[in-house]
Amino acid sequence: MQTLVTDRPDEAASWLNRGETVAFPTETVYGLGADAFDAEAVAGIFKAKGRPSDNPLIVHVATPERIGEVAKEISGTARMLVERFFPGPLTLVLKKRKSVPEIVSAGLPTIGVRCPSHPVASEFLRHCKHPVAAPSANLSGRPSPTDWKTVYHDLGGRIACLLRGEPSTIGLESTIVDCTVNPPRLLRTGAVSIESLRELVPDLEIATTCHPGEAPKSPGQKYRHYSPEAEIVLVEAPTQSLPTDTRAAWIGLAPPPQGATKTLQCRDLDEYARVLFGFFRTCDAEGICRIYCELPPEEGIGRAIRDRLVKAAG
Ligand code: TXA
Ligand code: MG
Repeated sequence: MQTLVTDRPDEAASWLNRGETVAFPTETVYGLGADAFDAEAVAGIFKAKGRPSDNPLIVHVATPERIGEVAKEISGTARMLVERFFPGPLTLVLKKRKSVPEIVSAGLPTIGVRCPSHPVASEFLRHCKHPVAAPSANLSGRPSPTDWKTVYHDLGGRIACLLRGEPSTIGLESTIVDCTVNPPRLLRTGAVSIESLRELVPDLEIATTCHPGEAPKSPGQKYRHYSPEAEIVLVEAPTQSLPTDTRAAWIGLAPPPQGATKTLQCRDLDEYARVLFGFFRTCDAEGICRIYCELPPEEGIGRAIRDRLVKAAG
């Protein structure tokens, strides 16, 4: 299959409306979309990514008003969260409408819904006839792509169209909150922080880790995620020096230690989140064997960075 790269949201949407898979930019990471009501098109997403079929997809809507096309019974809490955080980097798990094919939700009676704030994503979604089912636009198991070239690297030749945009400004996947349970449950950390969610939902339950033997709360929790080829070593406090026996890299907020071949010191947590997955990718391209990653403080988006680092370390 030849992958058309375009800058035009309307052209990309016309491919999607014809039943094809289309990658598109969002403020979190790039997504790989298909018409959420076209089961065959959605099957194309799983095939292109090599994604396990029991891992459900997030459905993207152009405006909050369109949530009702895929979800029913939007609870009072969900409404509050929509009003405060949509459009933006938050996914809500709601009760699914029967009309949405099972393949989208991997058989679950619930559906993840998100309304991106990215202007190119919004324009693309407005031109799509239906809501768009889309996971991150990477090969399954690899770090999520934050720029179009990385999408092309993973999926070029495997998808019909790639809508080219600027690099994602957030760099980590959306926060996920399950609103079908009481109290609502945080399933994945992201740029919408626990602190800001708790201002509206004080009893929010945290269920972001999957313990061995326990059924995952979010199907995606059981899969290895976000992993570069290189080994990830987590560093709590900045270290003086690294072993020099291997091609090592370092990323964090503190000044880089001695001995690293490649280093990236981030100005703040937002920059750390934005550059992390891209750094993993360049380290792999440059044959780095080991990446030392400073664990940031557990506050704001720092929690989401920690979560991705811990998962990448396996
Ligand atoms: O920022 C994002 O969320 C990006 C962009 C493209 O929107 N998308 C993304 O999708 O990260 P993906 O497939 O890589 O992650 C979706 C996560 C998975 O962990 C999946 O298990 C969970 O959402 N999920 C989807 N539907 C669910 C549901 N009904 N109940 C629980 N978890 C669900
Ligand atoms: Mg993903």
